Amino acid sequence: MFDDIQKLEEQAVQAINKAMDLDTLRKIETEYTGKKGSITLLLKGLGKMAPEERKAAGMACNNAKQAVLSASEFRKNEITENEIKKQLDAPGFDPTLPSIPVKQMSGNFHPVSTISFSVEKVFEKLGFKIPDYFEVESEWFNFEALNIPGDHPARDMQDTFWLKNGSLLRTHTSPGQARAMKEFKPPFRAIFPGRVFRYERTDASHEHTFHQVEGLMIDKNLSVSNLIAIMKLLLEAIFEQEITIRLRPGYFPFVEPGFELDIQCMTCGGSGCPVCKHSGWVELLPCGLVHPEVLKAGGLDPDEWTGWAFGLGLTRLAMMKYKINHITHFMSGDLRFLSQFKAGGAR
Ligand code: DAH
Repeated sequence: MFDDIQKLEEQAVQAINKAMDLDTLRKIETEYTGKKGSITLLLKGLGKMAPEERKAAGMACNNAKQAVLSASEFRKNEITENEIKKQLDAPGFDPTLPSIPVKQMSGNFHPVSTISFSVEKVFEKLGFKIPDYFEVESEWFNFEALNIPGDHPARDMQDTFWLKNGSLLRTHTSPGQARAMKEFKPPFRAIFPGRVFRYERTDASHEHTFHQVEGLMIDKNLSVSNLIAIMKLLLEAIFEQEITIRLRPGYFPFVEPGFELDIQCMTCGGSGCPVCKHSGWVELLPCGLVHPEVLKAGGLDPDEWTGWAFGLGLTRLAMMKYKINHITHFMSGDLRFLSQFKAGGAR
C-alpha cells in the first residue's frame, strides 16, 4: 500500500514537471486528485483496511495528495511566467510606447458635486465655514434640538430610516445647526452640504437618498433682509443670470418666522408656462430666522444672539439647472448619464 502511494506520487510529480501548458497540468491534477483520481480512490478504499493501519495509510495518502497539488501549483507559476516572458520577448512588443492618453480615461464630477462646489465657492468668499457633519445622527440633533419633539406632527413629514441602536440616518442637513452652534464661537457663518435620507417611495421627484446644503448665520441683530440679500447673491451666481425672488410664509418648527423662497420662472420669465405650472413662480428653498428654542439647544442665549438658516435641495437645484426630469438618474451610476456633465466638472 505505502509503495503504491509513493509510486503514484512520483508518477504524478514527474508528469507535472513535464507539462508545458495549463490545460495539460489541469488534466494531470484531475487524474490523480480529482473525484475519480487514483489517489482519491486509494483514500476511498481505506475503509476496508484494519483500523490500526488505516490511520497511517490515510496520512500517507493525504501527504501524497498535498505533494501533488503543491507541485502542480509551482509548475503553474512557472508556466504562467514563461508565457508572460514569451509575450514580452515577442517581436513588435514595445514597452516604451505611450499609454492611452489620460484625458480619454479620466472621469468627471457628478452633477450634484459640481453644483455643490459652486455653492461652496460663493459662500467661501463670504467667509462661511464648511464643516462636514454626520450622516448617522442622533434623534436629538435631527429632531429635538430643532424644536421637533417626539409627538410633533412635523415628524410625519420626514419618514426616517432608524438604526437598531436608536440612531438614524439624518433626514435633512439641519442637525448641523446645533452642531455648528456648539462647535463655533459666535458670531459665525457656516454651510453644511451633504447626503440626506428619507424612507420614501421612489418616483420622478422622490428618492431615498439625495443632497441638501444647509446654511446658518449667527450674529447680533440679524434680519430677514440679510437673508434675502444672501439668497439672491447665491442664486444669481448659480444660475448665472439676474433673478427675481419672493418670500411666502412657510412653517418649519426650527425657524420663526419661516418662509418658502420662490424664484421667478426662468423658462417663461414669469408669464406662466408648464414648468411653473402657469403661476410664474417656482418654489426653491425654505428658510427663516432661527427659532429661540434652537439657539438655546445650541447653547446660545436668544436674548443676545440671532440667526437665519436655509435648506437648499442640491439635487433639486441640479435638476433645474441641467433640466433633468427624473431624480433617479442621479443615483443610477449610469455612465451614459454621468459623462454628459464633463464640461462643468472643474472645481
Ligand atoms: N430641513 C428642512 C427639510 O429638509 C428644510 C429647511 C427649512 C431648512 C427651513 C432650514 C429652514 O434651514 O430654515 O425639510
